[in-house]
Amino acid sequence: MADQGSVLATAALPVEKSVVVIGAGTMGSGIAEVAALAGHRVYLRDTSDAALERGIAQICRSLDKRVERGRLEQAQRDAIVARLKPVNATGALEEVGLVIEVIVENLDVKVAVLSQIESEVGPDTIIATNTSSLSVTAIAGRLSRPDRVAGMHFFNPATVLPLVEVIGGAATAPEVTRTLFETAKAWGKVPVLCRSTPGFIVNRVARPYYGEALRLLQEQATTPATLDAVMRECGGFKMGPCELMDLIGHDVNFAVTKSVYEAFFDDPRYKPSLVQKDLVDAGWLGRKSGHGFFDYREGAIPPMPDDAGARAAVPGTVRIEGHLGPAAALGDLLSRQAEIAVERRDGIGLVRVDGFALALSDGRTATERSLALGEPVVLFDLALDYAACSRVALAAAAQCSDEHLAKAVGLFVQLGKKVSVLADAPGLAVMRSVAMLVNEAADAVHQGIASADDVDAAMRKGVNYPLGPMAWGQHIGIGHVGTVLRHLAQAYGEDRYRTSLWLQRAVHATQALGAEHG
Ligand code: NAI
Repeated sequence: MADQGSVLATAALPVEKSVVVIGAGTMGSGIAEVAALAGHRVYLRDTSDAALERGIAQICRSLDKRVERGRLEQAQRDAIVARLKPVNATGALEEVGLVIEVIVENLDVKVAVLSQIESEVGPDTIIATNTSSLSVTAIAGRLSRPDRVAGMHFFNPATVLPLVEVIGGAATAPEVTRTLFETAKAWGKVPVLCRSTPGFIVNRVARPYYGEALRLLQEQATTPATLDAVMRECGGFKMGPCELMDLIGHDVNFAVTKSVYEAFFDDPRYKPSLVQKDLVDAGWLGRKSGHGFFDYREGAIPPMPDDAGARAAVPGTVRIEGHLGPAAALGDLLSRQAEIAVERRDGIGLVRVDGFALALSDGRTATERSLALGEPVVLFDLALDYAACSRVALAAAAQCSDEHLAKAVGLFVQLGKKVSVLADAPGLAVMRSVAMLVNEAADAVHQGIASADDVDAAMRKGVNYPLGPMAWGQHIGIGHVGTVLRHLAQAYGEDRYRTSLWLQRAVHATQALGAEHG
């Protein structure tokens, strides 16, 4: 907005410019440390002297640890501390290039504090908010210069986690988000660009990781310990959904889910879960209250995941009919590692074993697949890497005998895997969760919230996913993801499982090219 005399650079904020961090709490002190480490003079401002003292002490402790570990010279540490200026709400500020607001998550309070700072800084100063759930557009819209206001969303702990979501509101000037992007990079972070939208990238795209897990538990498909083990050891996620929700705190996770749900005008895709509400109502908030899905009190014995041991002789021969898609590696594994004779034939993509078929989940239950196929089916779940994974989840159709299931378990045990048998839930655990993550990511891309690369970077760097959802979709095959979602939608008859238009188009494009392996 040239008429307002803004001369905003599109390179990183020069180190000679000061940074003001308002709010010296958990996030503010971390962000102040990051900016000071990068060479800026940092004014750390808080209305509470005690919070300021705690914040500065926290930064000093953290810098001392860096010195102890040999990552920082003592002289550098002293120079950084000298650049940190604790100030109260009226303390003078000089040469301010960037203000980052990191106070209580309340729109009115944030707007009041930022309106005040607008009158204290020059026209070139960028004003950023670290809000994790409020609309950047709404904050900016109530300030006098919305063009210079953006989101700069760090993750906790800000000194450790690399991701920074740089969020442009409706009126934010592109050079402002570009400068914040370059500044975050110069500070050693991994920035991604995104438009102001409920949950931004990470808190939106991650919803199905919790939502599908909660639904599987509500339907008694398995136990929290087994579900976590499957998502970790088969799906490749660093933490299972239940232990992760216990760590975040069910009060916090439930509040974020509710706020995203309401912000999307009650879109059923984000609907909160009664299972989580119950945990909150019971005061079982997770680690911090000593009890969540799991019991963290002293002496409590952590529950073990269900492991089905091998109880049947492994068949000497299996026949792979057609292409197994993302599970194609199983053919080689069965013949080389399990020393089972593998015959190959054309077909619809399944493994025929003595009396039954073994198939990768496509969103239908095993019982439904058996009805369609006219023979008993045991389904196996999606694995991030069938060779490397240490666990596989299975579900048997009602048409299966105990022996069928035992043989299927035996095959995977022969491959060195632990096996968890789940109830016959549509989409099993990993396949259903990953398909919904891909769907959510695709929708965010379709709506221009962020690029596919930025969505993937955000999910890998912000929440440690082993693959970005967009790349994961390609790895599974977009056609298969579309099939899983279509079957989930049929099973539940709910709008929650509707397929993103982006995915539908990608499926049609691959069909048109005839490139997909079915
Ligand atoms: P916190 O409660 O630890 O710290 C907030 C600080 O702001 C306190 O020291 C308080 O004294 C100060 N404060 C309150 N009103 C003020 C005012 N008018 N002027 C100056 N200082 C004021 O909160 P936390 O966790 O650091 O969160 C701050 C912001 O960061 C929130 O918007 C939150 O949503 C966001 N955020 C939090 C994350 C987390 O994991 N805690 C992660 C990412 C974003």
